[in-house]
Amino acid sequence: MVSDELQQLLIKYCEPEDQLLQHIDRQTNLKVLLPRMLSGHYQGRVLSMLSKMISPKRILEVGTFTGYATLCLAEGLTEDGFIYTLDINAELEDMVRENFAKSVFNSKIKYTIGDAQESLKSITETFDLVFIDADKKNNGTYYDLIFEQVRPGGLIIVDNVLWSGKIVNNAQDKDTKNISSFNDKINEDTRVEKLILPVRDGLFVIRKK
Ligand SMILES: C[S@@+](CC[C@H](N)C(=O)[O-])C[C@H]1O[C@@H](n2cnc3c(N)ncnc32)[C@H](O)[C@@H]1O
Repeated sequence: MVSDELQQLLIKYCEPEDQLLQHIDRQTNLKVLLPRMLSGHYQGRVLSMLSKMISPKRILEVGTFTGYATLCLAEGLTEDGFIYTLDINAELEDMVRENFAKSVFNSKIKYTIGDAQESLKSITETFDLVFIDADKKNNGTYYDLIFEQVRPGGLIIVDNVLWSGKIVNNAQDKDTKNISSFNDKINEDTRVEKLILPVRDGLFVIRKK
């Protein structure tokens, strides 16, 4: 959606990635399948900025992958804040834990391996910020599951809602239709204020009234 020139300009005029984030990006690209799932420099700075703007005490991330966005979101946490991050992929666990251990936010990260719908059953926190970035067909399920646990004024951010331009082109495959109906569901939800930021693959920023 964004030309290479514009992408370079956006990167030029945002904060640099720290060394650990650079390492995770490189390592993910070298060793992990589907590295493009990682948020990356510019989207990472957007997540960090949104997090810093609301100084959350409790964050939930559904879909850790290699931990890049976890660390970006953690940058905004209060002194006594925590981020819960959930992923089903046990194969990445050692690598992710090793990288978290190198971070100043390590003691604030609660990383759980397992199906997110199951893991959520034992988390009773009230969240200030939720980032939904896992199996896209379940966006609506995660949204419904966590909604009551988000405080009024809290943010729910959902990634990939523009689905590589397929939403705007009204593509008819199953994945696009799923994301499109999730977007419609949010549009019709009068309990929230919302907008899509055309960042990378589209970030739905949803604020609970
Ligand atoms: C797009 S990646 C997350 C990227 C990460 N948030 C970032 O920005 O760097 C999606 C992740 O969701 C995980 N996932 C898929 N289905 C899941 C499920 N049912 N429960 C928990 N995690 C799941 C995948 O294993 C994958 O690591």
